[in-house]
Amino acid sequence: MSLSTLKITSRENQNEMKRPLLTTGIILCCLLYSNAQQSSHMPRLLKNGNYTQLIVDNKPFLILGGELGNSSASSHEYMRPVWSKLRQMNLNTVFAPVYWELMEPIKGQFDFSLVDSLIKNARLDKMRVVLLWFGAWKNSMSCYAPAWIKTSSERFPRALDKNNVQQEILTPFNRNNLDADKKAFVALMHHIRQIDEKQNTVIAIQVENEIGMLPDARTYDEAANTAFNQPVPQQLLSYLQKNKHNVTPGLDSLWNANGYKTSGTWEEVFGRSLSTDEIFMAWHCARFVNEIVDAGKAVYNLPMYINAALNRPGWKPGQYPSAGPLPHVIDIWKAGAPSIDLFAPDIYFPDLKHWSDLYTCSSNPLFIPEIRFENGVDAKAFFVFGNYNCLSFSPFSIESTEHPEKEPIGKAYDVLEQISHLITKYQTSGAVKGFLLEKDSLPGEVTMNNYHLTIDHEYRLGWSAGAKNDTWPLTGCIIILVAPGEFYIAGTGVVITFTSTIENKRAGFLSIDEGKFEEEKWIPGRRMNGDQDHQGRHVRIPVGDYSIQHVKVYTY
Ligand code: DGJ
Repeated sequence: MSLSTLKITSRENQNEMKRPLLTTGIILCCLLYSNAQQSSHMPRLLKNGNYTQLIVDNKPFLILGGELGNSSASSHEYMRPVWSKLRQMNLNTVFAPVYWELMEPIKGQFDFSLVDSLIKNARLDKMRVVLLWFGAWKNSMSCYAPAWIKTSSERFPRALDKNNVQQEILTPFNRNNLDADKKAFVALMHHIRQIDEKQNTVIAIQVENEIGMLPDARTYDEAANTAFNQPVPQQLLSYLQKNKHNVTPGLDSLWNANGYKTSGTWEEVFGRSLSTDEIFMAWHCARFVNEIVDAGKAVYNLPMYINAALNRPGWKPGQYPSAGPLPHVIDIWKAGAPSIDLFAPDIYFPDLKHWSDLYTCSSNPLFIPEIRFENGVDAKAFFVFGNYNCLSFSPFSIESTEHPEKEPIGKAYDVLEQISHLITKYQTSGAVKGFLLEKDSLPGEVTMNNYHLTIDHEYRLGWSAGAKNDTWPLTGCIIILVAPGEFYIAGTGVVITFTSTIENKRAGFLSIDEGKFEEEKWIPGRRMNGDQDHQGRHVRIPVGDYSIQHVKVYTY
């Protein structure tokens, strides 16, 4: 998948781009409006035991999404052909930035025309929107801060590295920075509420983008240095004491090495190290974002999450974007930013399972706002929705494809959309499982009802066309047990065998039907027998096929 050349048409030439600047007076009207009751069918997160579901239009909703490249949504013109691409890939949700610099080009004067256009076009395609607030942070930088902020660094001070060199990063240790970001975000939330409260096209908000710190693990501006020598806030220490047995191991060992102190400065409690610098910075970033989230939710209470640029294993704080909501500092974020609903990984590293496990280990639901748009992303979608009760999947720069109609992710989304009512219905009882297979992986194994299932790559069958290839595509599937001996299996490139778990009994197939769901009603197609199920030996979805099969099993 190659990234298409970024094309931004000149803004001056676009009539649509002449955005009316709203006056502060209109904002005040919005403020009054915001006091009205919010509708009860708001998009929201619903916790059900260990499971969290995203509810949209009062029904559980799986985000089959894609995130736009950073600059695409800054031009109506550029976006025009993008919408049909998104439609062809069967997205139900688009992740799109809101750029602070374009939304508030003059202090206190807001221009929402890009947001309006996004929402309007998404509605035409019956698509939902997750808005990404490119505010004070974008990938550890502040490149989306408006010019009036960038050029007044005395009023809006920056982070300093340890040599006192200014960075193009706003420091979180400054009230002006926080107030400016917060005011703009609140104005955005007012606007969304005003135009979208009835239709709920916007279903979630990402607050900032990959907040973090580079090139050092913390900033060394004066206010930060002062805070660093102050006691660790009681709010954090109380959280750690309350969760003493569940604190992430790295953080626990730092705290333990210093005697599990319940008071003291950052270095007294956690020791002197880059990790302590990162913990300190994470706390202050969390407090900054929490205040923004609180202010935004007070206006319009949409689910709000924050995304993380993952730390490359083996790299030190300061070498990777530090202090974001990373697994090793997630407790700091939870303590400091309790208003954030979800901590979300942007997955650009290969080990999807490793990162998904880390992000789900402390009752945080898996929500993937960005994943590398590459071969195998289709199989990964089946895996995460089946294995993690994932709420969102979204390849990055989704519009970069030249052939949307051929994209495997579009085919996977078509299937996932059809079975999403089954996934969300059965996932809370543990009856949904997901598998990801590659050339060197062991087969997946699972026991469901009275059957033991072995899930393997389709090429493992000796006679498969691609079995002799050097590289095998990633394949995956989702298996849903809907009644004793009755399953729906959807995916690509898998072969599944069943054995009975009852002593002296064998398992056989009563029927395997390929088919589709139309408005949640099953429409059977081919009866898959003979060569298609290897004369009753297994369920098979070939590599390159994306299908749903309804499987009835019995014992004899
Ligand atoms: C992750 C960021 O969140 C995106 O905005 C974009 O910069 C991608 N990285 C680029 O790979």
